[in-house]
Amino acid sequence: MSAKIISGTETAKAIREELKTEVAQLKEQHDLVPGLVTILVGEDPASQSYVAAKNKTAHNLGIHSEQVTLDADTSEEDLLALVDKYNKDTNIHGILVQLPLPKHINEAKILYAIDPNKDVDGFHPVNVGKMMLGEQCFLPCTPHGCLELLQRSGVETSGAEVVVVGRSNIVGKPVANLMLQKREGGNATVTLCHTRTRDMDFHTKRADILVVAAGVANMIKADQVKEGVVVIDVGVNRIGVSESGKAILAGDVEFESVKEKAAAITPVPGGVGPMTITMLMKNTVQAARQLAGLE
Ligand code: GUN
Repeated sequence: MSAKIISGTETAKAIREELKTEVAQLKEQHDLVPGLVTILVGEDPASQSYVAAKNKTAHNLGIHSEQVTLDADTSEEDLLALVDKYNKDTNIHGILVQLPLPKHINEAKILYAIDPNKDVDGFHPVNVGKMMLGEQCFLPCTPHGCLELLQRSGVETSGAEVVVVGRSNIVGKPVANLMLQKREGGNATVTLCHTRTRDMDFHTKRADILVVAAGVANMIKADQVKEGVVVIDVGVNRIGVSESGKAILAGDVEFESVKEKAAAITPVPGGVGPMTITMLMKNTVQAARQLAGLE
């Protein structure tokens, strides 16, 4: 039996339609246009394409977006000054500094400098702490996108054995945390695996829901999962370049073999990626509402 394909593209499209209506209403009823700034330092091709996609989506939804691209040798001081400028800019409600940053810049220092009320990535410690406590806050976009995909696909998480592979601050740690929260879309029993896990297969084979965010192309094979598993593949690995010059992408899960065993699986591309961007838009609209005192 072949798995149901969980389409992030389709789910994201539905949420974006809802957001488009909301943005139009904000403009009409409150003369409020949500504003997002994306800041990219350097020329990493993957980061360039992510940032371009974020700006394009914002534009399509009627969100005001500004894109700032800085040289790779930009100083930490100059980047902090830019963040401070946007903290004070009343037309901007969301600030996103694309990661990773060049080695000479202290990433934590930059993330700490972003006003938590404009932290639409959900990376500021205030928002990370609130998320951990189950309080209302900006949720990090990729983990939130994974949860939305599961919920909107009708996958029951309550009581499920969820295994997360990868412990990054951006995906692994927060997705594990969100899935164990005592609320709808959570209530799972969560295992978090990483590079030091002694017997990875023991864990992955037990998973009812497997979330893979390890950054290793085709790492999870069919013999590492159980029949009927639901797979969320967060990996976006560039494994080559097509004749037309486009990047060829692969997930962290070997899609062709695992889909024969899984009950449902997200593809790469077209799975988690479009959801990440959509959750960023959702956070930007939420930020605009909050900063305008509408909620
Ligand atoms: N780099 C990879 N994913 C992300 C993300 O969600 N936000 C930012 N700012 N940088 C990233």
